[in-house]
Amino acid sequence: MTGKTSTAPEPPLAMLAELTHRCPFSCPYCSNPLDLERRSQELDTAAWREVFDQAAALGVLQVHFSGGEPTVRPDLEELVEHAAGLGLYTNLITAGVLLDEARVGRLAAAGLDHVQLSIQDSDPAESDRIGGYQGGYRRKIEAAAWIRAAGLPLTLNAPVHRQNIEHLEAIIDLAVELDAERIEVAHVQYYGWGLKNRAALMPTRAQLERATEVVEAARARLKGILVFDYVVPDYYAHRPKACMGGWGRQFLNITPSGKVLPCHAAETIPDLEFERVPERDLAEIWENSPAFQRFRGTDWMPELCASCERREIDWGGCRCQALAITGDAAQTDPACGLSPRHADLVALAEAESGREPPAFQYRRMTRPEPAEA
Ligand code: SF4
Ligand code: FES
Repeated sequence: MTGKTSTAPEPPLAMLAELTHRCPFSCPYCSNPLDLERRSQELDTAAWREVFDQAAALGVLQVHFSGGEPTVRPDLEELVEHAAGLGLYTNLITAGVLLDEARVGRLAAAGLDHVQLSIQDSDPAESDRIGGYQGGYRRKIEAAAWIRAAGLPLTLNAPVHRQNIEHLEAIIDLAVELDAERIEVAHVQYYGWGLKNRAALMPTRAQLERATEVVEAARARLKGILVFDYVVPDYYAHRPKACMGGWGRQFLNITPSGKVLPCHAAETIPDLEFERVPERDLAEIWENSPAFQRFRGTDWMPELCASCERREIDWGGCRCQALAITGDAAQTDPACGLSPRHADLVALAEAESGREPPAFQYRRMTRPEPAEA
């Protein structure tokens, strides 16, 4: 089955623009691929501007400037200004440590709508250890103050895992102190570097249940002060998430070199080929490329999903997780309790979370990047 749809799909709601894979941090749960793209492969300013033109013409509404660390790019302000000028909602996803007050002001003046600032832990030493960047915590706290002083709305991104989950209450308190309007408490997802470090990151079921209680209590206590987004780990779920809102339905991801992906981990699926912008028009890729067609809709589904009443709710879960666990991206996501592989997934989570965590394998370029000119 090809999963080919006869009518043109709706335009995507959002585009993740990975401006670069370069990053001063080395977080062991990074969702970037193990084989990071290098600076010499990155699209230049003119090419990104054209990509945003094509995105706006396609009907994309939101652009998330991401990476790696997008503030590594000196042309970030120009790109934000261009995207905002096209009427796109612009969101910056940043670790914050390369910002200074003047640059935050320039980004706000360029039309930036929102900032998501990541934090590794509420404890400064632990935050720096987990991110692999000494002094990072202090600089993030400074960045948060500049962001709010510039009048930009702030979301604190808090990836949680077994090595910081006991600090969740303090992380939520920190979000309030920093005057964030929203916190994303996201249990780490096991893609890219996160998959490589799964045994060091997987919480126990008891830790997950406690974290859920903490979030629910804080959500009630902080109503009207802080909005919560809570993402639970798939391995302990009964039904899978609708990954990316369904393959090729709402979302696309542009890598630093211009490859257009249906999700950030799609390159792990071995038989898919990805086309590039701006050479090929984004609308053409979205509507017609075989990679987007492959798992769009329901035609591709195995019988278990095809006959299930949730098939247009979760769209069969995550293709990349199905591949990682079963070796076949076209299987039902094992996060689904109906999958014959679900018990394996739960056993794996319980076994890994029950052992001493191994040392982190920090994110790094697998082939060292040549020194900058
Ligand atoms: Fe979703 Fe497929 Fe599980 Fe049904 S069987 S709940 S469609 S993953
Ligand atoms: Fe690729 Fe879920 S991350 S489909």
